[in-house]
Amino acid sequence: MNLYGLLIVLHLLGASVWVGGHLVLACSVLPKALRTRDADAVRRYEEGYERVGIPALIVQVFTGIWLSYMKLPDPSMWFDFSNPVGRLIGIKLILLAATIGLALDARLRIIPKLKNDNLVSLAWHIVPVTLVAVLFLVVGASFRIGWLY
Ligand code: HEM
Repeated sequence: MNLYGLLIVLHLLGASVWVGGHLVLACSVLPKALRTRDADAVRRYEEGYERVGIPALIVQVFTGIWLSYMKLPDPSMWFDFSNPVGRLIGIKLILLAATIGLALDARLRIIPKLKNDNLVSLAWHIVPVTLVAVLFLVVGASFRIGWLY
C-alpha cells in the first residue's frame, strides 16, 4: 500500500469514529437522557467514547494536514478561497477551530457543572459538534465529488 492510500484509509477510519460516535450521541443517547433527565447517561457515554473519539480526532488532524500538503504543498494557499482546493482545506481548518472551541467549552465549562436539570445546555453543544462533524465529511467528500468546487 502506498503512503497516500494509507493516509486516506486512516482518515476514513478516523472519520467513521468521529462522525458515527457523534451521531449515536446526538440521535440516541442525548434524546433519551433529555426524556429521562439523566445527565449520567451522557457522562457515561462521553467517558467511554473519549477513549476512541479523541485519538480519532488527532488522527484526522495529522492525516488531514498531511493530505493537505500533498494536494496543495504551499500552506499560504490553504485559505485562498479563489482556489477550489484551498477553499476546501480552508473550510476544513475553520471547522476544526469550531470543533476544538466547542469541545473545550463543553469539557471545561459545561460537563463539570452538568446536572439533570441543565442537560439542555449540553444539547446546545452536542448538536452543533455533530453538525460540524457531518460537514467535515461532506467537505472531505467534495474533494472527490466536486460539490464546493
Ligand atoms: C473529524 C474531522 C474530519 C472528517 C470527518 C473528515 C472526513 C473526510 C472524508 C470523508 C474525506 C474523503 C476521503 C476520500 O475521498 O476518500 C476527507 C478528505 C480530506 N480531508 Fe478530511 N476530515 C476531517 C478532518 C480534516 C482536517 C482537520 C483536515 C486538514 C485540513 C482534512 C483534510 C482533508 C483533505 C486534504 C482531504 C482530501 C484527500 C484527498 O482526496 O486526497 N480533513 N476528509
